[in-house]
Amino acid sequence: MTQPLLSLRGLGIRFGGLVAVDDVDFDLPPSHITCIIGPNGAGKSTLFNLITGIYKPGSGRVLLDGQDITGLPPHQIAAKGVARTFQSSRLFEDLSILDNVMIGMHSRTKTSVLSALLTPRRARRELDACAEEASAILRSLSEELYMRRYEPAGILPQADRRRLEIARALALHPRLILLDEPSSGMDDRDTADLMNDIRRVMRENPGLSFLIIEHDMRLVAELPDDVIVIDYGKKIAQGQFADVRLLPRVQQAYLGQKAVEHA
Ligand SMILES: Nc1ncnc2c1ncn2[C@@H]1O[C@H](COP(=O)(O)OP(=O)(O)O)[C@@H](O)[C@H]1O
Ligand SMILES: [Mg+2]
Repeated sequence: MTQPLLSLRGLGIRFGGLVAVDDVDFDLPPSHITCIIGPNGAGKSTLFNLITGIYKPGSGRVLLDGQDITGLPPHQIAAKGVARTFQSSRLFEDLSILDNVMIGMHSRTKTSVLSALLTPRRARRELDACAEEASAILRSLSEELYMRRYEPAGILPQADRRRLEIARALALHPRLILLDEPSSGMDDRDTADLMNDIRRVMRENPGLSFLIIEHDMRLVAELPDDVIVIDYGKKIAQGQFADVRLLPRVQQAYLGQKAVEHA
């Protein structure tokens, strides 16, 4: 296959006696949607924290385009094009919708407070350009968010908050976007809109891949090219959802959760 966008090799971390992520390997190709599923506490969010540099792995490696990024600090990994959203919303509620998108550009633009003070006119131009681009990103996701871009983010309902977080991730010009349970708190209609948003973003950004932790099995059945199943920190299966959901070890992992067999 072509060079993977992201590769994990033997990735692991323990917290005291608990092995939260255990020897995980996988490759993500470019232009690909992969979902990660698994029971609560399986280690899915911890895996994201390892990929994005929030935790340093105890073992193993993270490669982006074949380049070792293991243990780099989060801002450097972000600057290399790995954007993410968190399980709980992390918007700046009092800032405008537009400002929340512009914050996503921070990791890649050169404007610093110092340069803004030294060359205010140039910094101003750069800010204007950022605002224009952020507006365009918002508009590509939702005409309504664009129209309301000067309103505070805190007033948005759940589905628009997720959309805004995706807009902020896009502002990084990412090659990979990690979404942690994006459909949580959404009804069926919002979830369908979310899938359409992700598909549209894929079409408009060639090469971009998504890695999505998800518990909504309708989304997992419909959206991804590939599904990875995590249980007790280990990867226990990978493949098409229609196939992996039938595997006894996957059924076993979900015993008592009823999620997979009801999909
Ligand atoms: N910073 C931490 N310190 C100690 N234990 C943690 C920490 N982060 C996660 N864990 C534990 O690691 C396990 C996996 O958690 P998590 O990755 O959040 O699971 P998931 O996202 O799959 O529900 C859980 O048992 C959790 O309590
Ligand atoms: Mg989680």
